[in-house]
Amino acid sequence: MFGSGVLVDLVPYGQRFLDLEHEWLNGEGVFWWAVGGRWFVTRAGLEMDRREQQDDTDERIRFGVQTKDGTPIGLIGINWLAAHHRTGLLTAFIGDPAYWGGGYGTDALLLIVDYAFVWLDLRRVWLMTMSLNARVMRQMEKVGFRLEGCRRQATWADGAWHDILVYALDRDDWPGREALVARLGLAAQN
Ligand SMILES: CC(C)(COP(=O)(O)OP(=O)(O)OC[C@H]1O[C@@H](n2cnc3c(N)ncnc32)[C@H](O)[C@@H]1OP(=O)(O)O)[C@@H](O)C(=O)NCCC(=O)NCCS
Repeated sequence: MFGSGVLVDLVPYGQRFLDLEHEWLNGEGVFWWAVGGRWFVTRAGLEMDRREQQDDTDERIRFGVQTKDGTPIGLIGINWLAAHHRTGLLTAFIGDPAYWGGGYGTDALLLIVDYAFVWLDLRRVWLMTMSLNARVMRQMEKVGFRLEGCRRQATWADGAWHDILVYALDRDDWPGREALVARLGLAAQN
């Protein structure tokens, strides 16, 4: 296990997660993850993508996100680890919408940020989302990311143009995972 949270654990992104990708990537979550995209993903296409991605593993880190009872629910990681600049572009995707809005994604976010700052010694992490994505915007506010850029009308989603928002968090502004768990009142589910 790479990280033990309150609601989720970060674990190796192994076969249990890969088996769910086909369902997840054809589901509702992609619209939010791919800033307005709608995909139709075949199993053969997935296989091809996985082979191609093996070449860029230096820049990418991916963990499986599972509930405390071991149910795989999504992924979180760093899509672009710029070692020279000590920055990381975060990505997160809870594949099963039944788990949205329950704190799972934020618990996973606190784990990956902690991993990025404490273990990888990064100085800043950042991410992009579309202005329709209220869940991510709320997460950013809760965790203390700063809105530092807006690519106006940069994405087409559900029949209209929307902004792409750029958020970042500097290590100097990170109070530590435990402080945030306490501040947000994240508590284990019974
Ligand atoms: C983004 C994602 C990882 C967040 O994880 P999550 O478990 O849903 O997030 P959390 O429950 O921890 O936090 C979401 C917050 O948004 C709030 N929220 C949920 N739906 C909302 C809505 N429609 N409008 C406004 N706020 C909303 C939640 O109540 C919660 O805030 P709170 O803790 O103050 O109540 C997850 O929703 C996901 O994977 N979505 C699909 C893919 C995606 O959007 N990826 C990110 C692309 S940048």
